[in-house]
Amino acid sequence: MTIRSLKAALLPLLAGTLLLAGCERPPVDSVQHGFRGTGMVQVYNPRTVAEQMPGNVPPVPLPSLGTDGPKAGEVYQNVRLLGSLSVNEFTRYMVSMTSWIAPVEGCAYCHDVNNLADDSRYTKVVARRMIEMTQNVNSQHKSHVLETGVTCWTCHRGQAVPANIWYQVPPQNLKANFIGDKAQQNTPAKSVGLTSLPYDPFTPYLVGTPKPIRVIGPEPLPNGNRMSIKQAEFTYGLMMHMSDALGVNCTYCHNTRSFASWEGPPQRVNAWHGLNMVRDINTNYIDPLKSAFPANRLGPLGDAGKANCATCHQGAYKPMYGASMLKDFPELAGPLPPYVKGGVAPAPGAALSGTLAKVLFAVGRSNVSNESRAAITSVAGALVANTTVKVDLSGFADKTGNADKNLELAKLRAFAVRDALKAAGVADDRINLKKPEFVVGGTADDARRVEINVAQ
Ligand code: HEC
Ligand code: HEC
Ligand code: HEC
Ligand code: HEC
Repeated sequence: MTIRSLKAALLPLLAGTLLLAGCERPPVDSVQHGFRGTGMVQVYNPRTVAEQMPGNVPPVPLPSLGTDGPKAGEVYQNVRLLGSLSVNEFTRYMVSMTSWIAPVEGCAYCHDVNNLADDSRYTKVVARRMIEMTQNVNSQHKSHVLETGVTCWTCHRGQAVPANIWYQVPPQNLKANFIGDKAQQNTPAKSVGLTSLPYDPFTPYLVGTPKPIRVIGPEPLPNGNRMSIKQAEFTYGLMMHMSDALGVNCTYCHNTRSFASWEGPPQRVNAWHGLNMVRDINTNYIDPLKSAFPANRLGPLGDAGKANCATCHQGAYKPMYGASMLKDFPELAGPLPPYVKGGVAPAPGAALSGTLAKVLFAVGRSNVSNESRAAITSVAGALVANTTVKVDLSGFADKTGNADKNLELAKLRAFAVRDALKAAGVADDRINLKKPEFVVGGTADDARRVEINVAQ
């Protein structure tokens, strides 16, 4: 064989090797994820999964120090959320939180160590709001996080700033560019899996009032159907992010025969709840914190670093492949009952029965007074801790005045208490509005009331 013919024989071999170098080295595992024959298969590379595993093992929880002894609200000066924990539980929580957020800097990352009650560090202010946010995720977004729940670790993993956050991007400078509006395209970006799709699919969908994600027109003609190609490109950008964040492909959530159909895998419904949850996190918790953050933590448009699917999931279809830390930190499961000086806050798990509170109202009024609000918050805390209990609300008015108006007033009072319970974290489906048997109940002060009773 001449050198030339040897070269000719080797060339295709070399080209083949080069071509294959772009592929992943076998073996790969494939898991069927839909009806057979539909091609709905998830492909995993055992090596990648093995590499990801150590980063997804939650830290070992500190042993419980017991619930006895004085309450944190009694001993400390400026404890607003965790006052009903015992000092032991509170200390365990502070130490755990330090290892999740600032293991190197320690307590000083959030505290002036000479005055722990002081709130002048922005990190402490942010951390307090983050505690509320985490409690809200675990109690109001169970449709997404189920009983697995999240803790600070889910997003932070030992860092003060989570690895995956996003900021709004400045608009394109149209004057400096003769191409016109690129609509964020043709600039391959990591946020959309290095495709040329719009590189900020987060602002339209993950904060504030969302733009519609559905892009397939419900009717054939553009008459009343405003779906556009540009909208589709942003939607696909978001879909690339979601797939990337979960380490899956499109068929994890869609039977790609029809992207619009909800008959595919149930994970699409989970994802839909996830979208709602992320919007709540960004709109109601993180974005308003921009005034608390120092300038060097803000994005180019002055917004705070926000969450998306990758913030929790970090490449896994369930964060930490489904390991739950929440069971070891019940204080993060929902808002705690407030610490009442000299009073006993209902213990989580304590049996609730009978009348939990009588909320009183002024003559002719249906708005909840500040005093009554404290009673409602306390009941809400007990309900959040006792997830199986449902309540009946009955509104009453006194018998002075017009009977029809009184009936209406009793109803409005029950609505006001329902709304206050909901605002304090109790799910709608745990509150029944009951028509009381006697709407008009005497003339005493407590005739103008709403009773909160444990449902039979
Ligand atoms: C990530 C921020 C953060 C870190 C780190 C942190 N704390 Fe705190 N700490 C807080 C927040 C927020 C509160 C207020 C909680 C509330 O309002 O319910 C608080 C309150 C306290 C209080 C109550 C002070 C008072 O008088 O009001 C004590 C005591 C305390 N922390 C101790 C510690 C100790 C000890 C460490 C280190 C092991 C630590 N904290 C680490 C955020 C932090
Ligand atoms: C859903 C994900 C998520 C969870 C859960 C979460 N955080 Fe955060 N946290 C964020 C994001 C996003 C930021 C903003 C990043 C930045 O600083 O720009 C942030 C920022 C912070 C900061 C400011 C850090 C700095 O140096 O700027 C603190 C402190 C903090 N979080 C504490 C907590 C604590 C305490 C918990 C648990 C009670 C918690 N976080 C739970 C997402 C989360
Ligand atoms: C984690 C689950 C998940 C993954 C993975 C996913 N999607 Fe989606 N997709 C959804 C959800 C949820 C919606 C509907 C969102 C809404 O309506 O609020 C949706 C909507 C869509 C739509 C709009 C359908 C309509 O009704 O007009 C298209 C198109 C789409 N996805 C394409 C894709 C493509 C392409 C991929 C892969 C790159 C993908 N999706 C990956 C969950 C997912
Ligand atoms: C606050 C943290 C957090 C964020 C942010 C988050 N998720 Fe999740 N997600 C979870 C947890 C926890 C679970 C596990 C629940 C369980 O035990 O099944 C989960 C489960 C899921 C599942 C179900 C997986 C399965 O195989 O059953 C899907 C799908 C999903 N998430 C999609 C998303 C999408 C899409 C986004 C972004 C729009 C998102 N998630 C954002 C915490 C989060």
